[in-house]
Amino acid sequence: MELSRRDLLTASAIMLMRPMSSISAPLGVGLAAAPSAGGNEPMLLCWNENPYGPSPAARSAIARSIAEGCRYPDDENPRLINSIAEKEGFAPDHIVTGTGSGELLRALGLLAARQQGEIVAAEPTYAELTEYAQHAGATLKLVPVDKQLRHDLSAMHAAVSAKTRAVYICIPNNPTGTMVDSATIAAFVAALPDHVTAIIDEAYMEFVEGTPSSVSLVTGPKRVIVLRTFSKLHGMAGVRCGYGIARPEVIEEISTACMTTPNIFAVRGALASLGDSAFLADCRRRILSSRARVTAELARLHFPYAEPHGNFVFFDTGVPLKQFTEFMRQRNIAVGRRFPPYENWCRVTIGTEPQVDAFLEGVRAFRASLARAA
Ligand SMILES: Cc1ncc(COP(=O)(O)O)c(C=O)c1O
Repeated sequence: MELSRRDLLTASAIMLMRPMSSISAPLGVGLAAAPSAGGNEPMLLCWNENPYGPSPAARSAIARSIAEGCRYPDDENPRLINSIAEKEGFAPDHIVTGTGSGELLRALGLLAARQQGEIVAAEPTYAELTEYAQHAGATLKLVPVDKQLRHDLSAMHAAVSAKTRAVYICIPNNPTGTMVDSATIAAFVAALPDHVTAIIDEAYMEFVEGTPSSVSLVTGPKRVIVLRTFSKLHGMAGVRCGYGIARPEVIEEISTACMTTPNIFAVRGALASLGDSAFLADCRRRILSSRARVTAELARLHFPYAEPHGNFVFFDTGVPLKQFTEFMRQRNIAVGRRFPPYENWCRVTIGTEPQVDAFLEGVRAFRASLARAA
């Protein structure tokens, strides 16, 4: 069964409208899991969301704002921008917010297309920027990931030409989950010609251990934008809010290509979530510990996987993907989708602890079914 984004948004909106007491019992620091696995609803391990939902602080800020849904949020967005600027250590003129970081990716794609430019990106990678830019008239140069499924930055550098307007680097990469260390990224950016903008998508950076963000490159001599989102660790994918960090002139350009600004619920929810550090730390700890359980079991069952750094794992099922997703669908678990050319590989999002138990039970049963068929 294919689930649309619309199905998902409807489920999220319903969840936000429910009082806290009707959501599952608190786990850890005020943690309440999103109700995706109840009844006959499939367990959604396919969208890289945070299964614990928005933080308690964000939920109550959004609920309190419903009566003010009649107001434009024009005075509210600067408050969020100031708060993000303070957290990131930049002046507010270095920040732009969007209706999800996806909107900012599209705006950047549009800017490159307006100049009839080329965009260099990895393959596979998150395709929101590249697909939108291509529709708008840009040319794509996709560079295969290396053997460890990481960005091949030397090959990407070789692909840059006089027509290149942007290079998209997704760190950790979606769908592979792999990283490149920040020194290698810094050297790659330093070698870019001045007419190229480096777009560094850090949607999953909050899950990374040990490797610093590339955000300091923003104040360097090259055109760099770093993108972040409230859709992943903050658990607000259905609320739609993301942001970019860049020099003021780059921020100005992006703003001219954006189509919307975050709504009042997104702004207030994001502001509250930024302050709920206990919730964020608890989600992160749970997701990383469940991810370790998933990789340990995949290794034990001899399913190769790419080294994960986000809230998901990309692994080789050994058979055409459809066979595995159909097996899981019969257990009411939605995983994966095709990421050519990795036709046998599945991306699974780390869910709650019981969801991970159910997924691992499915993987064990799948391995046993392959053994029986051999
Ligand atoms: C790498 C990456 N960047 C950006 C996004 C878009 O996130 P948002 O919900 O902020 O538009 C996603 C969503 O899955 C993603 O995986």
